[in-house]
Amino acid sequence: MKKRLVVLTGAGISAESGLRTFRGSDGMWEHENIEDVCTPRGYSRDKKRVKDFYNFLRLGLKDHEPNAAHIALAQLEKRLGNEMLLVTQNVDDLHERAGSRQVLHMHGALMRLACERNPNHRFVFTGEETMETRCPFCGAMSRPDIVFFEEQPQYMEEIQDALRECEEFVYIGTSSVVYPAAGFKSYAHSFGAKVTCLNLEVPASDPYTDVCIEGKASIIVPEWCDKFK
Ligand code: APR
Repeated sequence: MKKRLVVLTGAGISAESGLRTFRGSDGMWEHENIEDVCTPRGYSRDKKRVKDFYNFLRLGLKDHEPNAAHIALAQLEKRLGNEMLLVTQNVDDLHERAGSRQVLHMHGALMRLACERNPNHRFVFTGEETMETRCPFCGAMSRPDIVFFEEQPQYMEEIQDALRECEEFVYIGTSSVVYPAAGFKSYAHSFGAKVTCLNLEVPASDPYTDVCIEGKASIIVPEWCDKFK
């Protein structure tokens, strides 16, 4: 179905829920080495270390609640139904816990594991992954369902189809430096969509963004959703 609205969220939408962003001061990548925990090489070198890192993040999610921005997007989905597509780069489950029903986690999800052997095998998982955890479909070793750098993000065909046809694309709480997500605004713009940015700090000028609204997600996202007709 043709989408009226495609929304892309990034770490900034979960910042006020107490989750670290990646690149801000005190961001995740100041504390962790990307090469060690978020690349295929790091995973091959030390699988246990990588599983433990994502176990820590997964188990920590229960201490964080969705904020007003997640809730506003869930309410907008209720209003727009299939005319809206929510895509997130986040691996947390705060959109789902706020009530969003259709969320495409393009960089994977902490609450799922994947299979080392078959990329189509994915399953819901809420506990602690060990070296013994197996894929329930084929018995191969599990791995975090996290898209490592240099791996292909998920749902790309579905996302690109929606971006080509949507009337409006809005990106929220993302630094727009990691591709392919960083390219969604120019792609949607080139197919005629209105492009809006909602972020704590907005770019001085961006040729592909028609409207920029600066502020905290918990304030500006509900306001923007209320006005969306
Ligand atoms: N409200 C709105 N925006 C905010 C807030 C807030 N309260 N706090 C921070 N931001 C903004 C920051 O200004 C920044 O532009 O959110 C953005 C977060 O940027 P990043 O930390 O780079 O996160 P993101 O863009 O989601 O990262 C993309 O990089 O390492 C990878 O896979 C990881 O999915 C992630 C990808």
